Amino acid sequence: MTDLEDELRALVGAGHVLVDGDLRAPYETDWTRRFTGTARCVVRPATTGEVAAVLRACAAAGAPIVVQGGNTGLVGAGVPAGGEVLVSLARLDRLEPVDEVEAQVTAGAGVTLEKLQAHARAAGLDFGVDLAARSAATVGGMIATNAGGIRVLRHGSMRAQVAGVEAVLPDGTVLTRLSGLAKDNTGYDLTQLLAGSEGTLAVVTRARLRLVPLLPARAVALVAVAGTGAALDLLAAARSRLATLSAAEIFYPDGLDLVRAYARLPAPFGEPAGAYVVLECAGRTDPTDEILETLSTCDAVLDATVASDRAGLDRLWSYRESHTEAVSAAGVPTKLDVCVPLGELSALVTELPGTVAAVAPDARVITFGHLNEGNLHLNVLGAGERAEQVTDAVLRLVAAHRGTISSEHGVGRAKAPWLPLSRTPEEIAAMRRIKAALDPAGLLNPGVLLPA
Ligand code: MLT
Ligand code: ZN
Repeated sequence: MTDLEDELRALVGAGHVLVDGDLRAPYETDWTRRFTGTARCVVRPATTGEVAAVLRACAAAGAPIVVQGGNTGLVGAGVPAGGEVLVSLARLDRLEPVDEVEAQVTAGAGVTLEKLQAHARAAGLDFGVDLAARSAATVGGMIATNAGGIRVLRHGSMRAQVAGVEAVLPDGTVLTRLSGLAKDNTGYDLTQLLAGSEGTLAVVTRARLRLVPLLPARAVALVAVAGTGAALDLLAAARSRLATLSAAEIFYPDGLDLVRAYARLPAPFGEPAGAYVVLECAGRTDPTDEILETLSTCDAVLDATVASDRAGLDRLWSYRESHTEAVSAAGVPTKLDVCVPLGELSALVTELPGTVAAVAPDARVITFGHLNEGNLHLNVLGAGERAEQVTDAVLRLVAAHRGTISSEHGVGRAKAPWLPLSRTPEEIAAMRRIKAALDPAGLLNPGVLLPA
């Protein structure tokens, strides 16, 4: 028992400083089981004031910190590398009443996406970001990673929803910007600087979030196509004809096989296809006819099934949304999250298996993702000790196709060594200067985002 742990107990209550290994364990390993480390202790503050006091105490002790939300991150940014104080924001879970005139709400960093969505919907509005980990992913983590998900096509990613934040700097200074003004040109946009900063600059404790219209009428089409090129032809038709388009996702036959075995789902079509696209439309009136008309005039469509009732929507979405869990049930994946221009997507998908096989002959890649943004999740199973070589080869291939090494999961610890593939030396130097200005002792999320 050291002075710092005693001080932390005095600040947040003895029951919220976890030192015992069994109590720490759920916080120390990420969801995929790929990233794990030992925390010095886990601290669970309940208010912004407590977060500020915890950060001040850690700064005085020179103790590094790792910040954790719902622990659904996929790049090892929210679990300790070894010896950090892990600050869990789960108890900052207060949701304020929806402001229906501004169409905004203030939410604590620990509020889950699912609770935020239910809260907004009860007020006749909705939240613009949605993703499969909705039951556990939290507002703070989603801002820190600038999370994307399945509705980026319609509403943009997390940073587009954030009108302001309250955040604590590593020295305990609290920055509060929660007025949510629609227009406010008064200097540096600190909110947007923190969005996507992966907890390296400050700890977001509350956020002022924009809400979007609730669109109760939804229709989903699961479409069989010949391959990636045909999927892009379908996307082009959908983009030009479907004013209510809200999602366009893709997956492939090997992913479908895994998902069917894992979630016990029937084959969606009589004949297998080269790729599968999920299109969703959402409006105030049933968009089914609009979707059917577009599908019937698009040559890329081999077969399709459409649903607009709750059970049917859930069933069709589960073919796509069960991928993450099905992949993890098959092994510990090396997860790569990349984005290339749509014109490069077919070439990337074609070259990928050969690139992986050249460095890890026993590995296989399960590919799925957000077709509209050219954002593919490349899940390599069976890479074993070749995980780093696979990552290197695939990220270089992506860079050669003018893509980015992280599309929506962030850089974390997992991709930090490859940041120079996506950012210039000048950009990285500027990022380091910002980091040094706000966190001069380098205590917040060390090793995350910026290469050592
Ligand atoms: C998804 O789109 O399903 C998520 O980004 C999670 C994942 O990549 O596994
Ligand atoms: Zn995704």
